[in-house]
Order: sequence, then C-alpha cells, then structure tokens
Amino acid sequence: SEYENILLERSGRVGIITLNRPKALNALNFGMMQDVVSAATELDNDPDVGAIVITGSERAFAAGADIKEMSEKTYMDMYLGNWFRGWDTLAAVRTPVIAAVAGHALGGGCELALLCDFIIAADTAKFGQPEIKLGVIPGIGGSQRLTRAVGKAKAMEMILTGRTIGAEEAERAGLVSRVVPAADLLDDARSTAETIASMSAPVAMLGKELVNAAFETSLDSGIRLERRVFHSVFALEDQKEGMAAFIEKRKPDFKHR
Ligand code: HXC
Repeated sequence: SEYENILLERSGRVGIITLNRPKALNALNFGMMQDVVSAATELDNDPDVGAIVITGSERAFAAGADIKEMSEKTYMDMYLGNWFRGWDTLAAVRTPVIAAVAGHALGGGCELALLCDFIIAADTAKFGQPEIKLGVIPGIGGSQRLTRAVGKAKAMEMILTGRTIGAEEAERAGLVSRVVPAADLLDDARSTAETIASMSAPVAMLGKELVNAAFETSLDSGIRLERRVFHSVFALEDQKEGMAAFIEKRKPDFKHR
C-alpha cells in the first residue's frame, strides 16, 4: 500500500480506512493525518465508492493526537505549521463517512470520530477529551463538535475533568448512533455503509449536506435550503427510478451510484 499508517480496503462500493499504528494505540501523528485525509479524498473522488468507514483496532480507535510528536513544539511550530488544519479536509468530504469505534477514542481520537457523519460504537468503546490533563485543550474540533453532539453539561464536564465515558453513556448522550457487540462492529459498520452506498450517491450527499447545515444556519434558512434541495432532486433520474420502483413493487436500480 502507498500508505504507511493506515490500511485501505475496498469492498464493493464501500471504502474502509483502518488506522494502523498499533504500538502507539493509533495515536494520530502528522503522517497518520496525511494518510487518512488523502485516502478519504481518493475514495471521495471515486464514483465507485458510495460510503466510507473509518475504524481502528479492538483496543483503540485512536488514543489521541501523538503526544510524543507534539510535546516539544512551540507556538510558532503550531501556528506556522497550521497544526491539525489537514483534518478540515476530511470534514469537507461529500461521501458519507461512518466511524466504527472500539476501545479508546480519546482526545484527537474522539474528535476524529466526531468528524465523521455518525459513530457506531462497540460495547468496549470509551470516549473522552483528556487534553486538560496534559495542559492543553481539544484542537481538532472537540470543543465545538462534542458540544453540539452531547450538549453543554456533558461536554463541559468531559473537557474540564477529562472524564471518559463508556459506550452506553455515549449512546444515551447522543454521541453515537448505536452500540453493538464488539465482535460485530466491523460487519455492522460495513453493512450500514453498504446500505448507504446502495442509494443514489447525489441524494445521499445532499442529505449529508443538509444535516450538516442544521449546525450552521437558523431554522428558517435551514428549512429554505432543504426545500430548494428537495425540489431539485426531482431533476434527478434517480428520483424517477426510486418512485417508479416503489409503485412497480421492485428494487430501485439507481443510476448514479
Ligand atoms: C503518543 C501514545 C498515545 C498518544 C498511547 N500512546 N497514547 N503515544 N500519543 N496519544 C502510546 C504509549 O505511550 C505506549 O507507548 C503505547 O501507546 C501503549 O499505551 P499504554 O499507555 O502503555 O497503554 P494502556 O496502559 O493500555 O493505556 C491506554 C491509554 C493511555 C489509557 C489510552 O495510553 C493514554 O492515556 N493515552 C493518552 C490519551 C490522551 O491523553 N489522549 C489525548 C492526546 S492529546 P510505549 O512506547 O510507552 O509502549 C490530543 C489533543 C488534540 O489528542 C489537540 C491538543 C493539542
């Protein structure tokens, strides 16, 4: 593989990125960021890929940004290096991205999971933002995305104390869409991704864009955006096909997937 820190696999219309620095519990160093972002971009640009899964190992999704790589850095290293800027590119991927999380998802690992469109958690998953224990704060969107996901009270407690939460608590808080037995995690994530990838790709991308817009706009402009996009999908062959298939009691054969 051209990637040093990840494994990249395609299975039908699903692309699977596996974080692969087991000795460091998948700590996210600069090379890992570049690999994940360029693999996700490669998959996003491939019309034969309709959904992406990002996963880690049984023990760790990712135990955070790489502390050893960061420890001696100065403000200038961070600022001029525009540290963590690369992750913004992952957030701009249009293809739906599922995080399949088992074990530790801490600091940057929790933030990477939050960067994905939704999280499926193994019952072994542990989420936390322990940065404060290292004398820093979240730096890959945790203060914003965790707060939007779980609300102020729990985000404040997690970010100010570094307390880690388990899969059940994460599900109750709305951080993850579902909890599954650890042994089923990858199969479940893969089949969820296959379901998404079997839909019309432009329609799935538009749905993702609209849900993300809910975090950026007022209700009124969000509804207006939805209405415009809803009207526009009637220009797609896939709308004709999807509705015809329902009426004819058969499976849709979407063209744009
Ligand atoms: C670099 C890491 C690492 C990390 C683990 N390792 N996390 N290396 N950066 N974030 C390395 C350890 O140093 C160790 O290497 C090996 O992985 C195994 O880890 P252990 O600690 O021996 O495993 P265990 O006892 O099972 O404990 C697991 C753990 C612990 C609870 C997850 O590793 C841990 O607390 N890690 C740090 C979690 C964290 O603080 N994350 C936030 C990072 S800051 P050796 O070579 O010793 O065997 C962050 C901030 C983003 O993400 C923005 C801030 C600027």
